[in-house]
Amino acid sequence: MKAQRVTIHTLRQMKERGEKIAMVTAYDATFGRLFDEAGADVLLVGDSLGMVIQGHDTTLPVTLEEMSYHCRAVVRGVARAHVVGDMPFMSYQASIEQGLTAAGRLIKEGGCHSVKLEGGAQHAPLVEKLVAAGIPVMGHIGLTPQSFHQFGGFKVQGRDAGGRERLLADALALEAAGAYAIVLEAIPADIAHDITAALQIPTIGIGAGVDCDGQVLVCYDMLGMNEEFKPRFVRRFAQLGATIKQATQQYVSEVRASTFPSDAESFAVTEKQAPQTALYSTIGKKP
Ligand code: KIV
Repeated sequence: MKAQRVTIHTLRQMKERGEKIAMVTAYDATFGRLFDEAGADVLLVGDSLGMVIQGHDTTLPVTLEEMSYHCRAVVRGVARAHVVGDMPFMSYQASIEQGLTAAGRLIKEGGCHSVKLEGGAQHAPLVEKLVAAGIPVMGHIGLTPQSFHQFGGFKVQGRDAGGRERLLADALALEAAGAYAIVLEAIPADIAHDITAALQIPTIGIGAGVDCDGQVLVCYDMLGMNEEFKPRFVRRFAQLGATIKQATQQYVSEVRASTFPSDAESFAVTEKQAPQTALYSTIGKKP
C-alpha cells in the first residue's frame, strides 16, 4: 500500500495532538530512502550540504542550482516524508521577486514540497507572497548560518538584552505571514519553550531544548560521520564514521590480498545469468 504523504497539515495536527515531529537533513536518494523507511516525518535538504557534502566552511557558497539538484535526488528516494528545500544565501534576500522565483524553482525543478528560509520579521512580506502563490514556507530563526559574518561566527542567539522579545516577535511575525513551521536554532531552551507555547504552528528545534514540537539534526552529525565534530546539542545515534573507515580498511586489505572477489562474486562464461539479477543498485524501484 502506498504510504500517506506527510503534509504541512499533518504537521500542524501533530502539534495539536502533542506528537513530536522528527526531522533530519538528507542530501541524496539513498539516505532519503533510508530516513523515510525509518519513519522520519520531514526531510530537510539543508544548505548545510555546503559544509558536509561540498566541504566549505560555511553554507554561503551554495547555489540554487545545487539545492535544486539535491532536492531532486532526495525526492526520488522518498515515499512518505515531507521534503523541504532550503533557500540558499542570496536567493531571496535581494527582493520579493527574486525570492518568489527561487522558491518556485525549488518546487518546480527540485520537486520538494515546501521551502525554508532564514530570518524573522524582515522576511514576513516574502513569506506572505510565497504562501499566496501556493508555496508552503518553513521559517528559521535564532542562529541562522547564512548570517555567519553578521554574527561573527556560529554562536548561541537570544542571550543578549532584548533577545527573548526579538525572537518571539520574529516567530509571531512569521506565523502571521503564513509560515507553517519554524526552525529554532541554538537558542536557550526556556526561550524555545515560550515561543513554542505562543505559536499555533510547530517549532522544530536544533540546540533549542526538548520543549520544541520537533527536533532536527544534520544527518551526518546524527550518524557520527565526523569524529572530530561534537557540539553540545548533537547526539550521535551511530558511529558511522568509524564503521565506514573500518569497512574500507577491510576492503583495501582484501583487495591487496586477492581475497576479494571470490569465485562466487565473479562471472563465468558458461553459466546463465538469472534474469532478475540486478547489476546496479537503484533507488525506490524494487527489481
Ligand atoms: O541547512 C540545514 O541543515 C539547516 C538545519 C541545521 C536546520 O538549516
